[in-house]
Amino acid sequence: MESIQLHDKTFEPYIDKDKIAKAVSSLANQIEKYAGNEPIVFIVVLKGSFIFAADLAKQYTKDAVFEFYRLKSYEGTQTSGDVKILVDIDTDLIKGKKVVVLEDIVDTGNTLEKIMSELTKKQPADIKIATLFFKPNAYKKDFPIDFVGMEIPNAFIVGYGLDYDELGRNLPEIYRLKKEKMIDFILFGPPGAGKGTQAKIIKDKLGLTYIATGDMFRNHIKNETPLGKKAKAYIQKGDLVPDEITIDMIKEIISDPEVKGLIFDGFPRTVKQAEFLDKLMAEKDLIIDALIALDVPEEHLVKRLLERGKTSGRSDDNEETIKHRLQQYHAKTEPVKEYYQKQGKYYEVNGVGSIEDVNQRLLDVISSIKLREKA
Ligand code: IMP
Ligand code: MG
Repeated sequence: MESIQLHDKTFEPYIDKDKIAKAVSSLANQIEKYAGNEPIVFIVVLKGSFIFAADLAKQYTKDAVFEFYRLKSYEGTQTSGDVKILVDIDTDLIKGKKVVVLEDIVDTGNTLEKIMSELTKKQPADIKIATLFFKPNAYKKDFPIDFVGMEIPNAFIVGYGLDYDELGRNLPEIYRLKKEKMIDFILFGPPGAGKGTQAKIIKDKLGLTYIATGDMFRNHIKNETPLGKKAKAYIQKGDLVPDEITIDMIKEIISDPEVKGLIFDGFPRTVKQAEFLDKLMAEKDLIIDALIALDVPEEHLVKRLLERGKTSGRSDDNEETIKHRLQQYHAKTEPVKEYYQKQGKYYEVNGVGSIEDVNQRLLDVISSIKLREKA
C-alpha cells in the first residue's frame, strides 16, 4: 500500500484489512456473550460507523435490531465538545431494551458523553458502548468503554468509515496522517558547555520546541499551575523536583500535535530519567532520534562558569562549587551518553569556538542524522 493524498494532507498505510477484521469479529463475540438470550438494539453512530456496523452485523449471529443515530461535532479550531443531534432515535425503540452503541472511534469522549446522556434519558434496560478504535491517550472522560476493538495512539486516522473532511471513508484499510516531524534530540553536555545558547539558536532556525527543564519549572511556578505548585514546594526546601512532576510537565508539551520536533536541555539527567523519557515518547508514538553531546574540556568549563558567575552575580559560583557540579555531572549524568550510545544514537560535537562555529557544527550533525521511521 502506498501513501495517499486527501485534500491538503498525506496519509500513510497504518492498519490492514486483516487486523480490522479480527477486531470486528472479536467485538461481535464479546457482544454475543453480553447479550445472552436477549436481542440487542444496536445504535449505529453515523456517519463514521457505517462500514464497521455493516461488517459487525455480518459477524453477529444472534437477534439484533439496528437503529441509526447521527451527530455532528461542531468544527472549530479546537474540539469544543459541542455536539449536535442531526438524526434522533424514538424513545419507544430503546426503552426497556438492551442497547449497544456502535462507535467507529472514541477520541476525547465528548461525542460519546453526549450520546450516553441523551440515550439514558430514553431509559434502556442497559446500555453498553462498543468502539472499533479507541485512543486512550486522548480520552478525557471517566466512564468506561465496555468493548474496544483496538487501542491506537494519538494519531489522526482515516478509512473504513472514518473521514478527513468527508474524504477517505471508502478506503478499505486504515491510513494515518503523516506527521511532518523534524527531529527530537537531547542536547547534552556538562554545565557551561553552551547548551542553552545553542539550543535557542537551533530552535529558531529549525522551528523546533525547546524543553529546558529549569525554564519549564519556572514557567509553571510563575503561572501557578497545579504542577508548578507541587514543584515549588520541593524547590523551596532545596530539594530536587521529583521525576514524576517533571515527566508530567514534559508529557504536556510533547502531546501538542503542532510540535514539529523537540530539543531537550537539562533532561534526562540520569539513566533512570532517560528510560522514563523513552517510555514517555513511545506512548506518544515518538522516539528520541539522537543525543548530541557538546564536548568542552574541563578547564574551559571552569573558566566559562566563573565568568558567568561574575556577570550574573551568583555568589555560589566559586571554583569549588563549580568543581562539585562537574563531579555530579560526571557521576550521575554522563552515563546517559552510554545509554544512547547503545541505541546507536550518540553524536559528539566540538563545543570549543565561537557561538556561530559551534552552531554550524551542530546543524551539520543534525542534517546528517537519518531520521528513523516514526513508529
Ligand atoms: P470525540 O473526541 O471522542 O468526541 O470524537 C469525536 C469524533 O471525532 C469521532 O466520532 C470521529 O467522528 C472524529 N474523530 C476522532 N478521531 C478521529 C480520527 O482519528 N479520524 C477521523 N475522525 C476522528
Ligand atoms: Mg467524523
